[in-house]
Amino acid sequence: MRISLLPVASVAIALASAPAVHAWGAAGHEIIATIAQIHLPKPVLTLVCDILRPSLNLSEPAPVSTVDAYPPCSLAPIAAWADRIRMQPQYRYTAPLHYINAVDDAPPDGCAFPGTHGWQGRPTGNVLAALGNVTSVLREFANGQRSVGDAEEALKFLVHWMGDMHQPLHMSGREKGGNGAKVTWNGRMTNLHSVWDGLLIAQSIRQTPLNYSRPLSGTAGAIVEPHLRGAIYDPYIRRIMHEGLSVGGRFDEESRSWLDCPTPPSEAKAARTSEFKSRAQALLSMDFYGALGLTTPGGTEVGWDDAVLCPFAWAKPIHKLNCELPVWPHDLDPAGSHPSEPELEAADVDAAGTPRHPELFELDTPKYAGKIAKEWVVERLLAMAGVRLAGVLTDVFQDVDVDGFVVV
Ligand SMILES: *[C@@H]1O[C@H](CO)[C@@H](O)[C@H](O)[C@H]1NC(C)=O
Ligand SMILES: *[C@@H]1O[C@H](CO)[C@@H](O)[C@H](O)[C@H]1NC(C)=O
Ligand SMILES: *[C@@H]1O[C@H](CO)[C@@H](O)[C@H](O)[C@H]1NC(C)=O
Repeated sequence: MRISLLPVASVAIALASAPAVHAWGAAGHEIIATIAQIHLPKPVLTLVCDILRPSLNLSEPAPVSTVDAYPPCSLAPIAAWADRIRMQPQYRYTAPLHYINAVDDAPPDGCAFPGTHGWQGRPTGNVLAALGNVTSVLREFANGQRSVGDAEEALKFLVHWMGDMHQPLHMSGREKGGNGAKVTWNGRMTNLHSVWDGLLIAQSIRQTPLNYSRPLSGTAGAIVEPHLRGAIYDPYIRRIMHEGLSVGGRFDEESRSWLDCPTPPSEAKAARTSEFKSRAQALLSMDFYGALGLTTPGGTEVGWDDAVLCPFAWAKPIHKLNCELPVWPHDLDPAGSHPSEPELEAADVDAAGTPRHPELFELDTPKYAGKIAKEWVVERLLAMAGVRLAGVLTDVFQDVDVDGFVVV
């Protein structure tokens, strides 16, 4: 009986570490929401907090817009909501709205976005279209044409999907965005998608220099510190802000163009676009593109991009990282050649009882994780998503008269 203590102990460790993996998945979204919040003008953040009151369990009788405390709320607690509800029956339709897959995409050697065979699924059933959809709901709310309940749901989706759009593997359908690509991370079996959703971020948080455990001082401190809530990733946000987004920081120059969108299509093109859109809408009930063997045109033509929100233009270079960095390592086994589960179970076990998987590709190496950390790849994507989220929210809400906003 005593012998059974060992497996029991390792089960306990496995259980203890399992939820942590999901928690880190949420961390990326929470970091992005916090960086966005740091960039929001005060009246815009106040309005956003008022809209989110029910989701945030804020119970004050008065709307937060009448309360002086700053910031009136944090966006982090709702940032991963869209992942938590995606399996509920009424939200099952949102499951495909977290990613986009081009039929021809085959990283790392062939990155197609979309390539000649277009996108998988309907042109409205992906993250780029969904970002436009929820932003329109917020614009309508700002014009008094939508209820606060509609705006609340749309806001929670916008905060989340802007993050998903900046995760390169959410832009690729190969092996379900890397979910099916088994790899090891520090000897433990995981998959490529999880490395990007959580493990790289977790490592960056652990490796944040100790000087960021203290509050930032001066102007940077005054701007950043009020938005931090004692989370494990606070030092990491301080570092991204101080070394990345501050004046003279790594991203100072390039971040000035992160909100840019390509010139809107000309009148003639706009007319063609709307003609195409009405044709497409009439046929949306069937798998138009797939069934007829037609290709889906590029983003602006299906109406995803406008002058303020241009998810297609923003996503293109992020998708390209799958081949350029590459996010998909060249040495990873080609699809289908992974060992079967029984083979994996029979794999070596080290002294601590942790199975070794010498047949799988290890990613916690200087060549892979080390290079990504050195080049600030993940930090750049998190910063970019936060800045863009703030830009879109500011555009939507900056002209709304907060005094005229009635909390229902
Ligand atoms: C609000 O309260 C509900 C019910 O107690 C809980 O499930 C939810 O997680 C809370 N939300 C936040 C953001 O704390
Ligand atoms: C667009 O957003 C609204 C509100 O969130 C939702 O009811 C609707 O189903 C969405 N449509 C699509 C195609 O995602
Ligand atoms: C923290 O230390 C790093 C060197 O490890 C330095 O580059 C950075 O400027 C320091 N940050 C602050 C806020 O002092």
